[in-house]
Amino acid sequence: MTTTSGSAGSFVHLPVLAEKAPENLVWNPDGLYVDATFGRGGHTRRILSRLSPAGRLVAFDRDPEAVAAASLIEDSRFRIVHAPFSAMPEELSRLGVGEGAVSGILMDIGVSSPQIDDASRGFSFRFDGPLDMRMDTSSGEDAAHWLARASEREIGRVISVYGEERFAKRIARAIVESRKESPVRTTRELADLVARTIPRNRTDREQHPATRTFQAIRIHVNGELDELRKALPEAGRLLRPSGRLAVISFHSLEDRIVKQFFSDTANPGKGIDPRLPLRADELPAPLFGHVERIRPDAVECEANPRARSATLRVGERTAAPWNDRLAAWIEEEEK
Ligand SMILES: C[S@@+](CC[C@H](N)C(=O)[O-])C[C@H]1O[C@@H](n2cnc3c(N)ncnc32)[C@H](O)[C@@H]1O
Repeated sequence: MTTTSGSAGSFVHLPVLAEKAPENLVWNPDGLYVDATFGRGGHTRRILSRLSPAGRLVAFDRDPEAVAAASLIEDSRFRIVHAPFSAMPEELSRLGVGEGAVSGILMDIGVSSPQIDDASRGFSFRFDGPLDMRMDTSSGEDAAHWLARASEREIGRVISVYGEERFAKRIARAIVESRKESPVRTTRELADLVARTIPRNRTDREQHPATRTFQAIRIHVNGELDELRKALPEAGRLLRPSGRLAVISFHSLEDRIVKQFFSDTANPGKGIDPRLPLRADELPAPLFGHVERIRPDAVECEANPRARSATLRVGERTAAPWNDRLAAWIEEEEK
């Protein structure tokens, strides 16, 4: 996913695995598909081109600008919904789509290039803008307000866990000290504060010192990992037998959740004590069968540097009915 600024202030999003993701998702051209992360519709358009006149595609995005961009798609098989993808079950049920009815769900998670490249969205340390970082600008608390009220401990925890930043405590202390004078309000103020606070070593030369802090605050403000943890089991429940769940992740925190989800649901009996006298047919049946891991090839990574960190995992739903093990998975992960 690379971005180029288009004309007249518009922004362009180059989808990662633009062909491979739809190719692995669409197995039944008459089916109903979900693009959980519309962005600018790069994947949506390619999925539509693989569907028959009977096929349908419902897309989601929590960003009002992405939803507005979807109006450019004039296709009676297509619908856009402004909602977080964790709300897929309720929103789809409003459209008459229930459990076990969906042929494929694509999730290309994270931020879009237009979000990063528009200074007014406050996602990037490369441009100066208000410190917002919300994907859904119509609701929730922005990054500036959160940094102005959160405790030093909470800020430190977020930067450490979601940014994997070893100087998290130091950065949190500097934020809290500096807000005694005046709160951090812009991306430039935050980027400069982080750069002043942490030592730069040789390995960091290619990366801005605030990269990890910005990533962490963005993940927190948007509840990104919780969204993913909630949506994966819901997606499994919505899929019909042979349905595909395709998830593209861009960093290890996301990929770990996706990998664990597929591992748990493909082997739901793995936590069961092997000494228990159970027959094979008494063990919980796998909910996903074959799971494939696909990476962009060298040509794509050369053309689109963001593809280098992308991993696509595609799982195929078995015919086993959905079971409560998945509910247990959500509870465990949310602790
Ligand atoms: C990487 S971009 C997707 C790009 C898209 N595949 C394309 O080809 O244009 C991610 C998009 O997902 C949206 N998004 C991220 N998390 C979301 C969530 N939990 N619910 C709904 N939309 C989300 C973002 O607003 C962003 O527009």
